[in-house]
Amino acid sequence: MKIAMIGSGYVGLVSGACFADFGHTVVCIDKAEGKIEALNRGEIPIFEPGLDALVAENVKAGRLSFTTEFSGPVSEADVVFIAVGTPSRRGDGHADLSYVYAAAREIAESVKGFTIVVTKSTVPVGTGDEVERIMRETRPDADIAVVSNPEFLREGAAISDFKRPDRIVVGIEDERAREVMTEVYRPLYLNQLPLLFTTRRTSELIKYAANAFLAMKITFINEIADLCEKVGADVQQISRGIGLDGRIGSKFLHAGPGYGGSCFPKDTLALVKTAQDNDSPVRLIETTIAINDTRKRAMARKVINALNGDVRGKKIAILGLTFKPETDDMRDAPSISIIQALQDGGARIFAYDPEGMEASKAILDNVTYGNSPYDIAEGAEAVVIVTEWNQFRALDFQRLKSVMAKPLLVDLRNVYTPDEVKRHGLAYASIGRGT
Ligand code: UGA
Repeated sequence: MKIAMIGSGYVGLVSGACFADFGHTVVCIDKAEGKIEALNRGEIPIFEPGLDALVAENVKAGRLSFTTEFSGPVSEADVVFIAVGTPSRRGDGHADLSYVYAAAREIAESVKGFTIVVTKSTVPVGTGDEVERIMRETRPDADIAVVSNPEFLREGAAISDFKRPDRIVVGIEDERAREVMTEVYRPLYLNQLPLLFTTRRTSELIKYAANAFLAMKITFINEIADLCEKVGADVQQISRGIGLDGRIGSKFLHAGPGYGGSCFPKDTLALVKTAQDNDSPVRLIETTIAINDTRKRAMARKVINALNGDVRGKKIAILGLTFKPETDDMRDAPSISIIQALQDGGARIFAYDPEGMEASKAILDNVTYGNSPYDIAEGAEAVVIVTEWNQFRALDFQRLKSVMAKPLLVDLRNVYTPDEVKRHGLAYASIGRGT
C-alpha cells in the first residue's frame, strides 16, 4: 500500500513510522521545511521512546520518507491520512479545523485514481462530511472515499499503543473503504485485534467520548481523594477496591494534580461546544472541566498549607514539569498553574525535569533550572513531585534531607507511601491519604 501522511507532528510521525513498519510505503508530508530537513537528517523533533530507532530502520529499508512536496506523493497514494493539528480556537473553545480543510482542498487537487482520504486528526462530528464536500467542490471528478480513523495513542507509549491497540475504529460511508482500511491494518487484523467499522459520524464521536470519559474518570478519583483526606481514608486502596470490579476497571484511577496535555483539555472543551451547539449539553463533562481547572491551583494551596500557610521568600524545588512522564510536552501541564500560584504567594521556584525544561523556559518566568533533584533541593523548604518520572521513584532521602533547609516532601503523584518517607525523617504530604 502507498500511504501519504499529511502532517508530521506527533500523530502523523508515529502513525507514519508504524505503518511503514507494517510494510507499507509511507511518505510523511509537512509544510514546515525546517522539520522535514531535520527528519531527513535523522533528527526526531519530539521525544517519544523508541521513535528514533523505528524511523531510522524504516527510512533505511526505503519504506519511509519525508518531504515538503505535496502533489507527487498524494497523486501516487492509495490512502492519504490527514494528521494535522486541531488546536482549540482562541475565544470559543471549538476545535480549529482550518488546517484540516486546507489539507482537504490540496489533496483534492492532487489525487489520481480511487483514493481513500482518512482524517486521523481529532475532529468534531460532521467534519468528515465537510471534508468530503470541500473535496467534491474542488474536484468534482475525483474518485474518493472519506473515512474517519481516530487515534488512541498516549504520548510516551505511542508506539506500543499503535502496535497493540485495544481497538481500531474506522468510520466509513463508502463500502469500498472497508477492504482498503482492513488492508492498511492487516498485521493487527491478522493478530485478531478488533477493527470496529462504524459510520463516519459515530467514529468521530467515539474519539471524543473516549477522551471525555477518561478525563471524567480521573476527575472522579481526584474528588474522592479530596474526600479521603477529610474522612481519614486512603484513595489508593479505594482505586484498587473499586477498580477490581470489571465494570469499573482499574486504569485511569490514579489520583493526582489534575489531567493536562494536548488532548484531554482540548477535546473535553470541544465536546462541550459540539453538545451545546446541538442543544444536548454534556453536563458531566462541563463539570469535569471546571473541577480539573480549579484542582491545579488547589495543589499549590496544598503545598502552601504544608509550609504552614506561608511561602513568601521560601525556596521550593519542583520535580517534574511535563504533563506526564516520558514526554517533553508541557501543553496544559498542571505544573504551570501550580508554579504560577506558588510564585503569586511569593515562593522562589527551582525546577528539574528530564525532558521538559526547554519547553518550560518558553512558558514560565522566574524559574531557576537545575541538573538533578539534589541540585535544586539545596536550601529548599519543600521538594514537590509534580510529574512521576521514574528517576523520582527512588530518591535518596538521606541526601535530600542533608541538602534541604527543611525536610518536607509534597508528593502530588503518590509515588511514595507516608510510612517510608516519614521513616527517613522527612515531613510528607500526598494526595488522598488521610489515614
Ligand atoms: C490521551 C489518551 O489516553 C489517549 O488514548 C488519546 O489517544 C490521546 O489522549 C489523544 O487524544 O491523542 P495522553 O494525553 O498522551 O493520551 O496521556 P494520558 O496518559 O491519557 O494522560 C493524560 C493526563 O491524565 C496526564 O496529565 C496524566 O498525568 C493524567 N492522568 C492519567 C491522571 O492524573 N491519572 C490517571 O490515572 C491517568
